[in-house]
Amino acid sequence: MKRGGDTGRDLLNIPKPPLALASMAGIVDVDFAKRFEGDIGIAFLGGFSVDDRAMSASMKMVERGRKEFIFEDPLKGIERELKKSKDCKFRTGINVRGSEPESYVEVARLAEKYDAIVEINAHCRQPEIMELGAGQSLLKDLEELGRIVKLTKDEGVIVSVKFRSGVVDEGEIIRVLGDSGADIIHVDAMAREGYDLKVLRKIRGMIASHLIGNNSVRKPEDALRMFSCGVDMVSVARASLEGNIFREIRKKLCL
Ligand SMILES: Cc1cc2nc3c(=O)[nH]c(=O)nc-3n(C[C@H](O)[C@H](O)[C@H](O)COP(=O)(O)O)c2cc1C
Repeated sequence: MKRGGDTGRDLLNIPKPPLALASMAGIVDVDFAKRFEGDIGIAFLGGFSVDDRAMSASMKMVERGRKEFIFEDPLKGIERELKKSKDCKFRTGINVRGSEPESYVEVARLAEKYDAIVEINAHCRQPEIMELGAGQSLLKDLEELGRIVKLTKDEGVIVSVKFRSGVVDEGEIIRVLGDSGADIIHVDAMAREGYDLKVLRKIRGMIASHLIGNNSVRKPEDALRMFSCGVDMVSVARASLEGNIFREIRKKLCL
């Protein structure tokens, strides 16, 4: 078992510092995440398409120029990554899009063996993924999202749900995630420009689950603003392509 940090993170067994690498399909695998070892508490690998229909959607996306992780057998591909991440200092999360609830359950069984977090992707808005009823379209069927969270949790894993704010009333989403027992709420607080701190404060006031704030963190000051809204962790995707932003944040904020 990897070491935890303070109380909240101890319960979820998340190492310090309270910074996470957010998923970028076709980019964030264990080799990429290792660049930030010691500077992140979680690496959300993927996103991964985890069943045949979702994988076909990924292949169509590749044809039109998007990066995706393509595996002949998605579960075997994910397991290879999980094996590689075994001795890493960060906790591993697997960002998942599936075409049916059973797909999330199968990944959860695998993740449980490696003590990994399952992150349900209710965020992706690529048309091929949305057509499957996965990604952001789960926000239009919150009952289904709640069911997937419950079924996934039944496999004994920590469940995170990632979504973009401003799509559906956040109060509704949080009510469903609270009822279904999501452990981590990962919010892309996208705004017209930069991030929406008001929405992070609002969500913080609604739920005690572990909250991760995301979007447009490029400097330590951005992370500080998010922390001051009460988030437990801050995650970064794009800025990680330009260097070790996590170390910069960690040093400046003494994390
Ligand atoms: C190329 C790329 C691929 C992405 N793929 C995923 C994905 O598969 N799953 C997911 O939940 N978010 C995905 N995201 C969204 C990021 O994790 C993040 O929420 C978003 O980019 C905003 O954070 P940032 O400003 O730190 O990049 C992707 C973003 C980019 C730029």
